Amino acid sequence: MSANKESWGSRVGLILAMAGNAVGLGNFLRFPMQAIQNGGGAFIIPYLVCFLLMGIPLLWIEWAMGRFGGRFGHHSTPFIVQEMDKKRKYWKYIGTFGIFTNIAVAAYYCYIESWTLSYVFHSLFGTFDGKSQSQVAQFFTDYTDIYTSTTGIPYEAVVFYLICVLLNTYILSRGLQGGVEVASKIGMPLLIVFGVILAIRGVTLGTSGAPEGCTDCDSFLGMNYLWEPQFDSLTNPKVWLAAAGQIFFTLSVGMGTIHCYASYVRSKDDVALNAMSAGWMNGFVEIVLGASIVIPIAAGYLGLGWVKEKAGFAMAFQTMPYLFEQWGTFFSAIAGMMWFGLLFFAGITSSLAMGTPWMGFMQDEFGWKREKAAWSFGLFTTVLGLPSWIFGLDKGWHEINMGADIKVPEFYRFVIKYVTPLLLLVVFIATIFNPQGGDWGAAISGLFSGQGWSLDNGSIIAQIMNKGLVEQIAATTDPAEIAKLEKNMFFVNLGRILLLAAFIFIAVIIYTAKKRRESTDNL
Ligand code: PHE
Repeated sequence: MSANKESWGSRVGLILAMAGNAVGLGNFLRFPMQAIQNGGGAFIIPYLVCFLLMGIPLLWIEWAMGRFGGRFGHHSTPFIVQEMDKKRKYWKYIGTFGIFTNIAVAAYYCYIESWTLSYVFHSLFGTFDGKSQSQVAQFFTDYTDIYTSTTGIPYEAVVFYLICVLLNTYILSRGLQGGVEVASKIGMPLLIVFGVILAIRGVTLGTSGAPEGCTDCDSFLGMNYLWEPQFDSLTNPKVWLAAAGQIFFTLSVGMGTIHCYASYVRSKDDVALNAMSAGWMNGFVEIVLGASIVIPIAAGYLGLGWVKEKAGFAMAFQTMPYLFEQWGTFFSAIAGMMWFGLLFFAGITSSLAMGTPWMGFMQDEFGWKREKAAWSFGLFTTVLGLPSWIFGLDKGWHEINMGADIKVPEFYRFVIKYVTPLLLLVVFIATIFNPQGGDWGAAISGLFSGQGWSLDNGSIIAQIMNKGLVEQIAATTDPAEIAKLEKNMFFVNLGRILLLAAFIFIAVIIYTAKKRRESTDNL
């Protein structure tokens, strides 16, 4: 059935590729912000609990499922889950998520990845030299935002996006050993070296960068804020939900990439230790390096108050180049190259992982050659990525949960059987019904007092209904602003229609593959 006989070249290559899959933009851009928004030091405890009780078990489960499926020639979620229980005929359609989610996320992810690539060049060529903080921020707006850009349509962003997708496609077309493994062996060590250098700089900055009159400009204050435990927020479900979400995203579990990568592990090769190694490497990069760069450096120059108030995802692009400027022309170029280079390596080793489930599927089921499978992924991603280019920043970070039961010894047997599924269920339900401002207490009492459940705009239900945008439109009187918001809503809906079409398309392909199998089985 499957002519796909690829496997990983070496254990180091496998671990680095898996670690590269996990270590991504989430470690450097998402984690620090989640920590800041969820009580700083208090976040880390739920984070570690979720890591141990949900993350590690899911890693084992997915690695084991993948290796199991690979033995039967399956390299993507649909037929891996089907193989596990042949009687449940619909499982393979649930497995659609294992291909679809990756392509959908890849489109958005490659877009951000392309910013990092472009910013490497801008740092090296001194674009940011002498720019004020607001000019650096404006540069970013001009680069990305079609509405508020002062320089017209941001063509450069499109060019870099295409370069990025092409690069991903090319590496994927070279296969696991010749492509993904090579990229991981170069990218991961460099990422760690760059990260360690910047982290040392962040941690040792202290008050040396404080401008006149700034009383809270101290990198240690930034570190302290992240690490000083604030136990009271432990009882806040919002913090737990955020921690669980971060664990899913950062470990790449529930997405299908691990299934796919693990399906190329030979049957006799280890899963238990390899999975742990990649998982802990991700933890190190996230907790040690991810937490020691943006926040401490920003706190050192701009103050902790600024960080608490203004810290956000775009800070990496809007603020970091300005902060690096304080180190002089030469070092700011080097620091910018390292920072954006590190982000780029983090990004590309993850987006490559997102490409492999689709490729594995088409190779297995339709006998496609690797090159053809890779190019089709590139094309798919480009089409789906264009709306994300149009509607900007914070759309598209999907976290989709999926888990199953297989046996792993002793303590974790219990965890996997009871604790992890329960956690998954709670997280799943909570994400759908997340109340306003994450305030569960108020929402529950509101429900009992007959006011109904007030959904947060970030909850899945509210997002589907575009609650945030609808509210904004209702609150606006300026017709130009309303037109802009409506256009925004149009693009959001267009993006969704595209995604839905992609999902249906993949499900149909799975159905076709099933039919093909049946007809060859009957020969
Ligand atoms: N783990 C990656 C990150 O932290 C994101 C990712 C999710 C990669 C799913 C692959 C699959 O950025």
